[in-house]
Amino acid sequence: MTTVDLPLLPLGKGKDLGTERGVECPGDLPPASDPALVERARVAKERLGERVFVLGHHYQRDEVIQFADVTGDSFKLAREAAARPDAEYIVFCGVHFMAESADILTADEQKVVLPDLAAGCSMADMARLRQVEDAWEALAAAGVADSVVPVTYMNSSADIKAFCGRNGGAVCTSSNAEVALEWAFAQKPDAKVLFLPDQHLGRNTAVLQLGLSLDECVVWNPLLPDGGLTTDQLRDARMILWKGHCSVHGKFSADVVDELRAQHPGIQILVHPECTHEVVTKADLVGSTEFIIKTIESAPPGSSWAIGTELNLVKRLANAHPDKQIAFLDRTVCFCSTMNRIDLPHLVWALESLVDGHVVNVIEVDEQTQAEARLALDRMLALPGRSARD
Ligand code: 13P
Ligand code: SF4
Repeated sequence: MTTVDLPLLPLGKGKDLGTERGVECPGDLPPASDPALVERARVAKERLGERVFVLGHHYQRDEVIQFADVTGDSFKLAREAAARPDAEYIVFCGVHFMAESADILTADEQKVVLPDLAAGCSMADMARLRQVEDAWEALAAAGVADSVVPVTYMNSSADIKAFCGRNGGAVCTSSNAEVALEWAFAQKPDAKVLFLPDQHLGRNTAVLQLGLSLDECVVWNPLLPDGGLTTDQLRDARMILWKGHCSVHGKFSADVVDELRAQHPGIQILVHPECTHEVVTKADLVGSTEFIIKTIESAPPGSSWAIGTELNLVKRLANAHPDKQIAFLDRTVCFCSTMNRIDLPHLVWALESLVDGHVVNVIEVDEQTQAEARLALDRMLALPGRSARD
């Protein structure tokens, strides 16, 4: 691997930065030491043929990604899931909210399987429906709810997407947040956006892409009465940002960016918009995982990059582009541990169970939630194109 004097963290499970759902994998999980795992996955997938479609998020381990029929960011994977009406089973190698979205976007008879139910997302868990409903009531009491359009990042639970659907809002992903916010601000005169649950994506998009000022953004803390905000602050705000963040991207630091620039003139800093505003402001380029991949693919040989996103993806990019200098943006940031829960033993277990006629770890969203969340997802899918940063 090529690095710019900034060694990648050693391989391994990584520090636990995500949530544990405390769900044990039922059945016989093959041991990780089984040398036949790759062959077992290949055979099971071959036996299932067209009946199964495997989706892999870019943050998944290589051992899993090799079996994905399609890889992508969460936007691309949502579209791919919706475009496979003939697959009986969608095996989602990603995290829980992605599998829920796939279930919402696929037909009732299609089953979405998440190989490890403990693959959640700590950011999605930072916005609970009860908290969001309380916030909505407080916004009504402050006299601003009528002008608020809720927009939730894809990284949220299905019931939060449903909340946005029934309240005239939409879903967005890191690759279309700009157009989604433009859409939201056009929905009402003097519209405000309640952006859930990632304050960083919301702030970075509003300020750096839509040109709002930082003063026009306020942070709603669900742990404080009235979000910790006064009625005047709510009236003056244009963006009400939910106090949530990604436990992985939130750890990249602006100091390391400065250090790298001083040590390596010419290095380019490429980060995901889930990073803090300080880091994103100091970066050269910002965009979704698809954008990061395309940027590196089209970069000239010999160019130097430090990338601030999940480590599995950065390692894969460094391996795929030995003619470019690619480093991880930090020494202390680790893998997304919940993404990493989907490993080869879990994938083999899920695929072999399907071969045996047992559909395991099905992700099923109830009908009412599906219908309302679908409204918000469809509003996103109808947005014009993807942003320049996809
Ligand atoms: P994207 O897939 O939208 O780039 O988001 C990254 C991420 O954190 C997914 O959990
Ligand atoms: Fe959630 Fe962050 Fe992991 Fe993505 S990288 S699944 S946002 S914790």
